[in-house]
Amino acid sequence: MTTDPDLHRRRASSFGSQAAAYAEFRPDYPAAAVRWALEPVADRDRPHVLDLAAGTGKLTAALVAEGLRTTAVEPDRAMLAELRRTLPDVPAHEGTAERIPLPDGSVDAVLVGQAFHWFAPERALPEIARVLRPGGVAAGLWNQGDHEVDWITGLDEVTRGEACFADLSDEVGLPPHEEYEPVRRQRFPNRLRYTRDSLTAMVATHSRLLLLPEDERAQLLARVRGYLAARPETQRTEFEVPLVTLVDRAVRRWGSPRQ
Ligand SMILES: C[S@@+](CC[C@H](N)C(=O)[O-])C[C@H]1O[C@@H](n2cnc3c(N)ncnc32)[C@H](O)[C@@H]1O
Repeated sequence: MTTDPDLHRRRASSFGSQAAAYAEFRPDYPAAAVRWALEPVADRDRPHVLDLAAGTGKLTAALVAEGLRTTAVEPDRAMLAELRRTLPDVPAHEGTAERIPLPDGSVDAVLVGQAFHWFAPERALPEIARVLRPGGVAAGLWNQGDHEVDWITGLDEVTRGEACFADLSDEVGLPPHEEYEPVRRQRFPNRLRYTRDSLTAMVATHSRLLLLPEDERAQLLARVRGYLAARPETQRTEFEVPLVTLVDRAVRRWGSPRQ
């Protein structure tokens, strides 16, 4: 969590200015990660899944590909418009994690891609529990660079920790909460293909860069281009970028206070 609340709010609402680039360049989610997140409700008949903070619909698309009944909620109108354009059959509502526009006990799972760290957790976790049926699951997913890989660590250093795959300087993860069973965590490999241009464009969609003055942003992106031009791993036209999808999941307790 960014310590300055005003900066945190501005970063949380920065993505819409680059919605089309976000949709084009940000990483997708691996099916294995989505299936593991949903495992606690996998035996339910036609589980209803909410993609909360759905953005342009990256995680929504993975849920739809699994054949799941999916609803999306997202506060940013530009992001929501992009989602509605690419996934016109998915019910998509304007709303926040702290005030979800769905009835009590209406979904079996709430999935949050790359966004739980933008929420006010003390308000979002009870609100997520409200819309979940008992025994339903809340999960946060984060795509991150694989920091076992030298050139990925180097890329983070080039951006001076300002950007890269998951706003990595932010603590990610679901915190424990009384309305949920203990959090379980798994990591899944997520190897995606990029070019030097598309990887630079992906770095440019991170909130820290979106808020930089134009000249600083251009300088930082020039450094990224220079780094990628010099690394042996990124010399082919298309190369593999080793990402890891971290998933935290927590089952909503049956005996929650509101039951
Ligand atoms: C990094 S994007 C992730 C979008 C999408 N889930 C994905 O995986 O590509 C973060 C999203 O969180 C949304 N967001 C920020 N604060 C939020 C809040 N309090 N409640 C719901 N969504 C929020 C932003 O508008 C943005 O679309």
